Amino acid sequence: MRIAVAGGTGTVGRLVVEHARREGHDAVVLSRAAGVDLRDAQAVRRALRGADAVVDAASTATTSGPRATEFFTATSKILLAAAEQESVPHVVLLSIVGIDRNPNGYYAGKVAQEALYEDAPVPWTILRATQFHEFAGQVAAQASLGPLQLAPRARVQPIAAAEVAARLVELAAAGAQGRARDIAGPHEERLERMIRAWVRRHGARRPVVPLNVPGAQMRGLRRGLALPGAQASLIGPTFDEWLTALG
Ligand SMILES: NC(=O)c1ccc[n+]([C@@H]2O[C@H](COP(=O)([O-])OP(=O)(O)OC[C@H]3O[C@@H](n4cnc5c(N)ncnc54)[C@H](OP(=O)(O)O)[C@@H]3O)[C@@H](O)[C@H]2O)c1
Repeated sequence: MRIAVAGGTGTVGRLVVEHARREGHDAVVLSRAAGVDLRDAQAVRRALRGADAVVDAASTATTSGPRATEFFTATSKILLAAAEQESVPHVVLLSIVGIDRNPNGYYAGKVAQEALYEDAPVPWTILRATQFHEFAGQVAAQASLGPLQLAPRARVQPIAAAEVAARLVELAAAGAQGRARDIAGPHEERLERMIRAWVRRHGARRPVVPLNVPGAQMRGLRRGLALPGAQASLIGPTFDEWLTALG
């Protein structure tokens, strides 16, 4: 089948594209680097022509609630309208475990995005995953201060992005099912330890300083509000196994 991947050059999106192609699907990438801006309704419509499913794995690097809400609302509205106009039979959204318990900062945008998908004019599936193992590197890249590496404290149960990508392709091919079962990695980790391990793995000797980042979103993460419930599927390698396998 033909699967259109919004954010198909991102951390998880490029793995969705790779996995879909390995499984024999045709994958179309929607990202600015691939020449399709999700804010351009005509370009999005052209990219969705002939697609059998859309996987939405686009994102924006912000911790601001208003900025995240504007991005996810604007891009999702355009993507869903284009899917309807092009008669795409299924849209799949990747979301995050626990956002309704902690609807602050970036997660406010994801809550608004989920509401749009639940009201979509096209059959939909929403998959919630926990933070990726790769999240350690994403946070580390945004959290340096002079010679110091800052490491926000948080309780997470991370999962390999490749596992999330494989599940998204499976769901896209299976047809709409509304809310899919949450997925998470095998056990709880401390984000600050993950960041230290990530930085050392990449050869940096700079001091790593754990800190409590102010604000409701990070306070919620410290309280464990992003941890999976008992019904979640726990899959894939632990963070340490994943880091070791990077070679
Ligand atoms: N990171 C995590 O730990 C995690 C955990 C669970 C769920 N999620 C969810 O997974 C999804 C993907 O996250 P990620 O971390 O993989 O994102 P990411 O690495 O930041 O990638 C974002 C993607 O969105 C694209 N994009 C951004 N603005 C765009 C625009 N205006 N038009 C077209 N494409 C645009 C980017 O490509 P261009 O820059 O080329 O446009 C890129 O391909 C998000 O919905 C996120 O909430 C993330």
